[in-house]
Amino acid sequence: MTGKCRIIALANQKGGTGKTTTTSNLGSALAKNGKRVLLVDLDPQANLSMSFGIDRPDELKISMNDMLTHIVKAGLSETPLPNKDVYILGNGKFDIIPSNNTLSIAESNLRNELGAEHTLSELLEPLSQDYDYIIIDTSPSLGLLTINALTACNEVIIPVSTQLWSITGLVDLVETVYKVKKKLNKQINITGIVLTMCDERTLLYKKASDLIREFCENKIRIFNTRIPSTVDVGKANYVSKSVIDFNEGSKAAHAYKAFADEVITHG
Ligand SMILES: Nc1ncnc2c1ncn2[C@@H]1O[C@H](COP(=O)(O)OP(=O)(O)OP(=O)(O)O)[C@@H](O)[C@H]1O
Ligand SMILES: [Mg+2]
Repeated sequence: MTGKCRIIALANQKGGTGKTTTTSNLGSALAKNGKRVLLVDLDPQANLSMSFGIDRPDELKISMNDMLTHIVKAGLSETPLPNKDVYILGNGKFDIIPSNNTLSIAESNLRNELGAEHTLSELLEPLSQDYDYIIIDTSPSLGLLTINALTACNEVIIPVSTQLWSITGLVDLVETVYKVKKKLNKQINITGIVLTMCDERTLLYKKASDLIREFCENKIRIFNTRIPSTVDVGKANYVSKSVIDFNEGSKAAHAYKAFADEVITHG
């Protein structure tokens, strides 16, 4: 088997930049490459869980909130966690720890607890031996849940939509990653920015990508692969599939596979 598990957080506190779409397609592409993949839904919106085919996340037996609250209240060593098959679901290709909207109260449950930033890390640490990749989808916020993702991961990938102006958000995000690196997680590095919803013919695309290139200088990688803007993504979402599983021949599927190859290369 391959070496150490890579734990990657997909983060951007701006809404709708393609975090969830990128998580599900990266997971799907890595699994097709024979990698053992666990997706982690750390967003109370539960879009990733729904794209996995969980139609009613509110009916989950055990939710991400239960797991995090269990860890922070009891401490791992005292009360054992439930069996993995209770909180990890699989589809034969890859696994997921789903979430639902109760996760929004986890943030307040965790807030006053000692070491709350490390809660997700405690959950994922023992799982890292079972997977080659653990990919965490975060919510559009830099709150305690996202800080948990940044503390638990060793890499961050930042999806940036070229159809939205999100440069100001990028400054705050990169600063947050550096703060986390200093205070909570020395392992963390930014693997790169992936440009999503690209329509390369438009002036908006050119302006947005120039601005991002300027922001990154030579310090932050911008992945070569541009994820095209296409209706296939919406169609795939509609039937709860990754675009790769929905239409493997589509442009978006090809792009996500090429992106996954880049991720594999740039560890
Ligand atoms: N390449 C694409 N082409 C067209 N539409 C896309 C593409 N990628 C994502 N979308 C659409 O844009 C919307 C936002 O995408 P997505 O949910 O992945 O973003 P997000 O960053 O996870 O959002 P949030 O911040 O709310 O969690 C969705 O409706 C999705 O279907
Ligand atoms: Mg999302």
